[in-house]
Amino acid sequence: MLTSHLVIIGLSLIIYLIRGGLMLAGKPSTVMTSLAALTSLGLFGTGIAMVFMSSDISFANSWVIAMILGFLLYITFGVIALKSGLRKPVAITLWLLGMAAFVFTFLLATNTDFAKQLLGAA
Ligand code: HEM
Repeated sequence: MLTSHLVIIGLSLIIYLIRGGLMLAGKPSTVMTSLAALTSLGLFGTGIAMVFMSSDISFANSWVIAMILGFLLYITFGVIALKSGLRKPVAITLWLLGMAAFVFTFLLATNTDFAKQLLGAA
């Protein structure tokens, strides 16, 4: 399950980068958008599944709540940024904010010091 989570995270990031590039080139792609929706669902599904399966992580855990928030920000910024019809500077800013949300969530998952500083030692 963790392996699927990690593979899907990689795929999701690659697709996000490609969509950013297509947006810059002014060529939005519905196929990429569908793939992005699919990986997002997989990312969330495997994450939530691990929370259910683990006896020492629960939804009351502030780390889990922060992970879900980071994930939602990543998705939301991505969806708004890659909508057609936005002016380019606005779209780029939103896309970068989505990227920042991804990095934030990634750090939270991998960097114990960062997580502790943010959430308090638990
Ligand atoms: C942008 C979104 C996300 C990123 C970048 C991300 C990243 C990661 C990474 C890198 C790990 C491996 C940590 C390690 O073992 O060192 C991990 C594990 C995990 N993630 Fe995610 N994740 C994301 C979304 C989510 C979501 C939405 C959930 C659901 C609550 C979630 C739940 C988990 C759980 C439970 C683990 C296992 C932790 C453990 O057992 O140590 N993740 N995530």
